[in-house]
Amino acid sequence: MLEGAKGTASNVYVFETGDCGAARLEMQDQIYGASTRQMMLDSGLGAGMRVLDLACGTGIVTHWIATQVGPTGMVVGADINRSQLEFARAHGTQSEGSRPPEFIEVNAYDTGFPSESFDMVHCRLLLCHLQRPLDALREIHRVLKPGGVLVCQDIVISSVFSCPPTKVYQQAIALGHALAKHLGVNYDFGVQLHTAVVEAGFGVPEVCFTQPAQLRGVGKDWWHQCFVELTPGIIRAELATEDEMSTLLGELESLVLDERVLLAQARMPAVSAVK
Ligand SMILES: C[S@@+](CC[C@H](N)C(=O)[O-])C[C@H]1O[C@@H](n2cnc3c(N)ncnc32)[C@H](O)[C@@H]1O
Repeated sequence: MLEGAKGTASNVYVFETGDCGAARLEMQDQIYGASTRQMMLDSGLGAGMRVLDLACGTGIVTHWIATQVGPTGMVVGADINRSQLEFARAHGTQSEGSRPPEFIEVNAYDTGFPSESFDMVHCRLLLCHLQRPLDALREIHRVLKPGGVLVCQDIVISSVFSCPPTKVYQQAIALGHALAKHLGVNYDFGVQLHTAVVEAGFGVPEVCFTQPAQLRGVGKDWWHQCFVELTPGIIRAELATEDEMSTLLGELESLVLDERVLLAQARMPAVSAVK
């Protein structure tokens, strides 16, 4: 059993966690999950590996990794929020011939894991929520074995657009940026991933950009759902009033239901970087 270093729950991660945020993370995986899994497989994920899923959230990808590393491998899902870990433990489907993941409470800046203890680290949508993303990348570098691989994806919210263009998406992006600025984080961090990993000590990475687009279907509601969860934080930060948010959410929702409007989700750059 690995020991992690517990952190205090993040006050800059302002989305819902546990049961309340699970549907949004599920939608997110429907949008980006195929590229996540392909990049991990292309980066050598396979039987017998020791893998860390850092900021594992509700454990969707962690449980899948367990099926890939099999009984001779092991996967640890680590997150700062206890409610995410509780959800992850309760909702895994144990598949035959794989070991269940361990879920451990850690802070990404200082995980407490021994140096050089993992063959691969997966990290999706953490760095945009951190005030010091480079420090977390250095910590990932520390816990990877020499030759180990980081597979990391992060978002660029500026890239969201609709076709035909609609003002409401522009307003939502501007609000997202204002909230990120207020929190001291960067919801466009994805564009810096390829340089940040090199700065943290990795070799020049492989890069892949994903930008799915939808006219209909569950995933089309993801952006709207993100703003439903961000609303209390936006109002607390006095970036919009309750009335303004209710108008914005109503407009976002009606575009989700309008099958003539194409929604291009946020671009998600991914890197695969070797230590
Ligand atoms: C958008 S969710 C992504 C979850 C998962 N990686 C996925 O893609 O489904 C971001 C996760 O980062 C976690 N988190 C935020 N700050 C953290 C920190 N300092 N250390 C560890 N986890 C953190 C949150 O609790 C949340 O579960």
